[in-house]
Amino acid sequence: MRDNDNLTIERPTFVSHLECAMHGDHYPADQVHNLSKAGKPLLVRYDLAGVKQAMTREALAQRPPDLWRYRELLPVRRVADIVSLGEAMTPLIRLAKLSRKHGGGEIIVKDEGRLPTGSFKARGLVMAVSMAKALGIRHMAMPTNGNAGAALAAYATRCGIRTTIFCPEDTPEVNVSEIELQGATVYRVNGLIDDCGKIVGEGKATAGWFDTSTLKEPYRIEGKKTMGLELAEQLGWELPDVIFYPTGGGTGLIGMWKAFAELEAIGLIGAKRPRMVAVQAEGCAPMVRAFEAGTEHAPRWEDAHTIASGIRVPQAVGDFLILRAVRESLGFAIAVSDASITAALHEVAREEGLLLCPEGAATYAAYQQSLADGRVTKQDRVMLFNCASGLKYPLPPVTRALDRHKPIDYANL
Ligand SMILES: Cc1ncc(COP(=O)(O)O)c(C=O)c1O
Repeated sequence: MRDNDNLTIERPTFVSHLECAMHGDHYPADQVHNLSKAGKPLLVRYDLAGVKQAMTREALAQRPPDLWRYRELLPVRRVADIVSLGEAMTPLIRLAKLSRKHGGGEIIVKDEGRLPTGSFKARGLVMAVSMAKALGIRHMAMPTNGNAGAALAAYATRCGIRTTIFCPEDTPEVNVSEIELQGATVYRVNGLIDDCGKIVGEGKATAGWFDTSTLKEPYRIEGKKTMGLELAEQLGWELPDVIFYPTGGGTGLIGMWKAFAELEAIGLIGAKRPRMVAVQAEGCAPMVRAFEAGTEHAPRWEDAHTIASGIRVPQAVGDFLILRAVRESLGFAIAVSDASITAALHEVAREEGLLLCPEGAATYAAYQQSLADGRVTKQDRVMLFNCASGLKYPLPPVTRALDRHKPIDYANL
């Protein structure tokens, strides 16, 4: 096995068609698509009997540890179209001290901060851009809370596709800078991500941009799906009891749910599913409100605010898919306060040496809250998603200083 076998060896591909996630009508593969005729997300469908023959446990065991090991369950057909920056499998990190503190339930963090551009957005965008390359798209546009735009810029630049990106004006500085440095044209907009999305929609209509918004193109979800494929394989094809996922547009949650169905269809896992928990912030919790109201869709959340900018998404085009996965899995949606996010971030860093991003910290806050209200038990094996490197966010200043020219009181340092 060579390190780049997944990127150089042609493998059979099994995409059969695309399907409207709401109505089930079919669309041909290998053509440029955004939403279905009904304005709903399109899902990629595969000949799963064929995948079952080709992508066995034994075949997987021979392949390098990156997301391209699952090629038969991915849409990119030719190695020439893969635009890679090294999408390494992300580690599972056990929080042993905090497990003990909370009564012994295993707490596992999937640390997505190790991916290119420092977030799990790389999974979705490497797929969307590789497919854009395959389909001859020349100019991609996107509204972003930061991390998605950074990943789009990186991959698109790598294969010569032009990108125009819009983010809310208070997007973390590091995100805006990395987007620009990685070759995109980025604008700060005085509004939220859905306001940015409207600009992209108008640019699509008037200037012919390709709209790369969450779930408005079919392939980001296929990339995010690899989180589910990967965690299943890493746990020996045994899924955890509960997954806590910081939910904005929800691509990862929807993608993992799709991954588990496909893995069962090809015989790699059984019928057991984790309970899927959509974690949101109290200042922006449209899914929690809709979950509790028992509705299929989640109306826009007005005056959205939270320190966890990645999950500040007032309205999601895939709302019904998020809510469907949460309900089918017997999971739930939960909102946490900004104060509990900050406390969680500090606790995990101090106790376990793991610096989470605020969105990742929200999942630990949600776990604590769910243990306390009984929705999760201390027998449950839970997985928390840390979706980005904590280093991408503003960190608290340290004021302690030492004057090396004065005597140092070592005993009291
Ligand atoms: C760090 C982080 N966590 C979570 C999310 C939400 O992801 P999703 O759109 O899959 O719900 C984002 C999206 O921007 C993010 O950047």
